[in-house]
Amino acid sequence: MIQRIVYFPSLRKLLLRAGSNSASSKIGTNNCFASQPSPLRSHSSDDEYADVDWDSLGFGLMTTDYMYITKCCEGQNFGQGQLSRYGNIELSPSAGVLNYGQGLFEGTKAYRKENGGLLLFRPEENAIRMKIGAERMCMASPSIDNFVDALKQTVLANKRWVPPPGKGSLYLRPLLLGTGPVLGLAPAPQYTFLIFASPVRNYFKEGSAPLNLYVEENFDRASSRGTGNVKTISNYAPVLMAQIQAKKRGFSDVLYLDSATKKNLEEVSSCNIFIAKGKCISTPATNGTILSGITRKSVIEIARDHGYQVEERVVNVDELIEADEVFCTGTAVGVAPVGSITYQDKRMEYITGSGTICQELNNTISGIQTGTIEDKKGWIVEVD
Ligand code: COI
Repeated sequence: MIQRIVYFPSLRKLLLRAGSNSASSKIGTNNCFASQPSPLRSHSSDDEYADVDWDSLGFGLMTTDYMYITKCCEGQNFGQGQLSRYGNIELSPSAGVLNYGQGLFEGTKAYRKENGGLLLFRPEENAIRMKIGAERMCMASPSIDNFVDALKQTVLANKRWVPPPGKGSLYLRPLLLGTGPVLGLAPAPQYTFLIFASPVRNYFKEGSAPLNLYVEENFDRASSRGTGNVKTISNYAPVLMAQIQAKKRGFSDVLYLDSATKKNLEEVSSCNIFIAKGKCISTPATNGTILSGITRKSVIEIARDHGYQVEERVVNVDELIEADEVFCTGTAVGVAPVGSITYQDKRMEYITGSGTICQELNNTISGIQTGTIEDKKGWIVEVD
């Protein structure tokens, strides 16, 4: 597709405020403010959509036009950042994130309404969670306002990559990285806050079909007083081996048990878990080892509004036998039905499909997120 490269007014203002047109951003230097703003050029506003086959979207990375980037020194505050062309970043080999894993990530989505408006779902919750994680990982973090403003800038700059209504969303991946150089084990002297984006639809290859989970007993995801409750990058590589093994055996993903007793449900590699029996829905309490998911929290509130009794508590693995329904929640995953769980070679099956609690909750939360159901809770933030 031939793309005309011209300025368009609202984005131009945004980019002039804070732009660098370097495709490769140097962020691993000692100088916190190495790059200077310069105007960026962007696609014409009449390129309403990027040249994407929206019907074949999954959860693979599709790079977009721009990313947002800002940095600050330890002990200072992040200032206004800049949009630059999506591209590689240059890091010192001694960057804290490369050597000691000092990094956090977030995930949130932008949705396109039928009237073209763009919506974010509870973005301040991601900002708060990043702040809490940054404290745990001894990192500087952006303010809530900076974080939300940065998300809005990233969405606007990549507007043509937000899928049409009903075809998916623009996944936003905020990263907070210790990019300053260190050798001895210590917090990095410099931090980078970056957001990139990718259009996405279903997370699992199953699409919206029910998941088949495997209860993992050989590996733990988190331990008491560790970092299981924060979204540090260092929580995620360790789950890969179990996930790969389970996928080889035909499972969709792995469900973890608590490391202390191996008797209680924790979470799936990439999402939280709920079980339902009658009108009662239970989910493991966020006790320090479980990520406090924003979809999890929202689904709990919606379920209570719909008259379900929701319990956040210790959920014993044996309760899987009695459950009517099991479902997962997460930003990437959404509200996903679980069709079966295999534990110690015993396969348990659950009700899925029309009329389920999972479907009811999914319809409500996705309706709010995409603007087809009125947001009575103040969860939606309009981008433009
Ligand atoms: C998300 O749901 O946004 C996550 O960050 C999970 C990730 C493993 C895709």
